[in-house]
Parts: sequence; structure tokens; C-alpha cells
Amino acid sequence: MAPIKLHDKTFDSYLSEDTIQTRIRELAAQIDRDYAGKRPLFIGILNGAFMFAADLFKNLTVEAEVSFIKLASYSGTKSTGRVITAIGLDQDLIGRDVIVVEDIVDTGKTLAEFLPQLQHNQPASLRIATLLHKPEATQFDLTLDYVGFAIPNKFVVGYGLDYDGIGRNLREIYQLSENA
Ligand code: XMP
Ligand code: MG
Repeated sequence: MAPIKLHDKTFDSYLSEDTIQTRIRELAAQIDRDYAGKRPLFIGILNGAFMFAADLFKNLTVEAEVSFIKLASYSGTKSTGRVITAIGLDQDLIGRDVIVVEDIVDTGKTLAEFLPQLQHNQPASLRIATLLHKPEATQFDLTLDYVGFAIPNKFVVGYGLDYDGIGRNLREIYQLSENA
């Protein structure tokens, strides 16, 4: 695929639609096996994870539920620092097998702050499925149970991920061009 321009920046093709879809089918098959006989609850994190969550969910055969939340981050008191709250978390998580669905884990800060809050709701189990992971950038101790692709520490867009609001509709994933 040819490079694309979004706002002021150029992006090179990185993961093709076929590569993404093939990997998602593999992840879905793995989740089907791991959750056989259970009824996992997928919690997609908006906005970025909407496409990945949809395609992952379509490929599952295990009985499952899906719900979406938004994470809002604001400055708390000096002692609490930045606080993350979930908007739209209306499900009862007690005793549920929860799988959080993210588009990308970069520094890991978002999930490192949010997962303990989910644990407070006493799920039976809590796992993470992320389409992308930047291992070189991650500074928090997170167990990522299902990872689509480990990628270099470069900004990416497409397939749900945006650059300043645009690019989410792209079917491929693009990487910020070196010579941009
Ligand atoms: P942390 O650092 O908390 O970041 O793991 C997670 C959130 O930051 C956004 N993010 C990106 N968005 N291209 C994007 O479009 C990227 O390369 C990128 N890296 C991080 C994203 O919203 C993610 O949920
Ligand atoms: Mg996100």
C-alpha cells in the first residue's frame, strides 16, 4: 500500500488488512479454547478498540458478552495524582470472566491504573487482549494475555487508532514515516 498523509504527517503501510484479520482469527481461536464452557464478558475500551473488539467478537464461537466503556483521565489530588474513571461500566462483574479489549498498550499506564479498579468489582478472572503492544515503551508491570502484534516504539494509526481524530476508518495499520 502507498504511504498516506494525515494532517501534516506521512504514514507508511505497516500491517495489511489480511495480516490483521488472520491474527485476530488466531486470537479468537485461542480464546475459544481457553474459555470453553464459560461465558466471558469482553469490555472494549473506546474509542480505539472498537474495530478490534468487533472483529475479535465476530470470530468467537464461545458464548460471550460484550460491552464498551470509555476511560476518562483527570488530575486528582496531589496524593492521588492522575485518576482514571470508567464511563459506562454498568455491568455486574462479580464472578465474571472478564477480558479487557484494548487497541494498544504503549507505556501501560492506562491499564496499570485501571485494572486494579476492575479487580475491586471481584471478577472471577481478569485478562487483557490487546491488538498491539509496544514492548520497548512499556514501563508498567502488566500481564498481557492475548497480544496481536508486538510492534516497535513508533506512532501508529488506522484500524481504530487515530492521529488527532482521523485515520480510524483505515483497514490497515500505518506507521509514522521515518522521513516525515
Ligand atoms: P498507555 O501509554 O497508557 O497508552 O499504554 C494507551 C493509550 O494511548 C494511545 N496510544 C496510541 N494511539 N497510536 C495511537 O493512535 C499510537 O501509536 C499510540 N500509542 C498509544 C491509545 O489510545 C492507547 O489506548
Ligand atoms: Mg485507547
